[in-house]
Amino acid sequence: MTANTGFFREQEAPAVLKHGILRRYPVVFASAAGGNASRVVLLDGYAGRGKYEDGSPGSPMLLLGAASKTGSFRTVECIFVERDRANFTVLSEVVQSHGADLSCCALQGDLSSHLASILTSASDAALFAFLDPFGTALNYDELTKQILGRPTRPPTEVLLHFSVNAIRRISGLLRARREELSDAERKTIERVDRFLGGEWWQPIALEANDEPGVATKIAERVVQEYCRRVGTDTASGSVAFPVRDRPGLAPEYFLVLFTRHPYAIWRFNDALSLANVEWQEAWRGKANAKEAAKVAAKVAKQRAVEAEQGLMYLFDDFEVASAAPVAVTHEPFDEAAEAMRWVAVIEQNLTVLFRKGVPFKLMNNTGAVYGEVLGEAREKHAAQALKNLHALGISEDTGVGKGIHNRVLRPGQNALTT
Ligand SMILES: C[S@@+](CC[C@H](N)C(=O)[O-])C[C@H]1O[C@@H](n2cnc3c(N)ncnc32)[C@H](O)[C@@H]1O
Repeated sequence: MTANTGFFREQEAPAVLKHGILRRYPVVFASAAGGNASRVVLLDGYAGRGKYEDGSPGSPMLLLGAASKTGSFRTVECIFVERDRANFTVLSEVVQSHGADLSCCALQGDLSSHLASILTSASDAALFAFLDPFGTALNYDELTKQILGRPTRPPTEVLLHFSVNAIRRISGLLRARREELSDAERKTIERVDRFLGGEWWQPIALEANDEPGVATKIAERVVQEYCRRVGTDTASGSVAFPVRDRPGLAPEYFLVLFTRHPYAIWRFNDALSLANVEWQEAWRGKANAKEAAKVAAKVAKQRAVEAEQGLMYLFDDFEVASAAPVAVTHEPFDEAAEAMRWVAVIEQNLTVLFRKGVPFKLMNNTGAVYGEVLGEAREKHAAQALKNLHALGISEDTGVGKGIHNRVLRPGQNALTT
């Protein structure tokens, strides 16, 4: 049994977040970036089976959904690549049944071996590439020179699953067995070198130790440095968002968007924020179901023991309820309560920007506007913050109306005095 067996059985909370983004962002890309090209190509380079055993959509179905939603005003084509034969068979059926009226194709094999021909066929198209492997993805040069190295127009964006787990695990290998690595382990490390674009990550990995959380911090530094390098080499900006099983746990992976367009980062954050609400509900639902199952198992065990000891229940429910362990449940996600904190954080961040005394646009400052609530808050919370700051005389702009992301914002008369 491999670690990946069962991946397609049902969605875990991280997949809810990932798919929440894919349900929204490719539509934004096809609508906006597609305006600068004759066609749009949505590429799913590590497509998987297309759907889960419980019928919920995988990334291919979501990209087909985006193509269908934008098909009336854009020419959109989906390309899926899957290496595993069994997964490919299921994927082909999904693509046939859900993509019947759409322009789409599924290719079997390694993404690298199909990449050149895909890029040639997409040369006149705006390209959104979703790279979602289990471990490392394409080699650094394939990502930076071939995909992100395309001319600036038509636009190109990459959404990459960057596995923190893989880096954490391989860093451990590097530290523990430096002198006596097996051939297979050496090959794994060489694969990471090719993915990250050299051995620069190894000294960072060797700084790790066995203290709790240190290996994760090291993996996060590697992600940050990787994004910096890709950004420099391709003149792209990036957003890297940690994806966890639940709050407080180490991230499983980062979802990283590489783009040359500030507007894309602003809109990607909106998609992330809405997907995060779904994730908040998903991990709570799963944790509550797990807890309830644990309690039910304990009660059943307790009953079995008591039955064995010859105890009879006259008032069955009453007796069991009084003796039963209590399930700890997580309350539903209260977005309204969280939103108050998000708006307060954005107000502080905007005040800092206004105090500089220089006009600015929200969409050119996504990171500075949202700060610690990036990926949680979205445009409507930024608008509320702007409205509050207008009332205080810190923002000239009222925060009311459409298109606030693209308006030139100027400090109000109180910006420098409060
Ligand atoms: C994480 S799963 C994909 C899940 C899918 N993107 C989703 O969200 O529903 C990764 C898939 O990539 C496939 N894969 C692994 N290496 C590959 C490669 N070099 N080229 C193409 N597919 C590959 C695996 O067989 C697996 O089905």
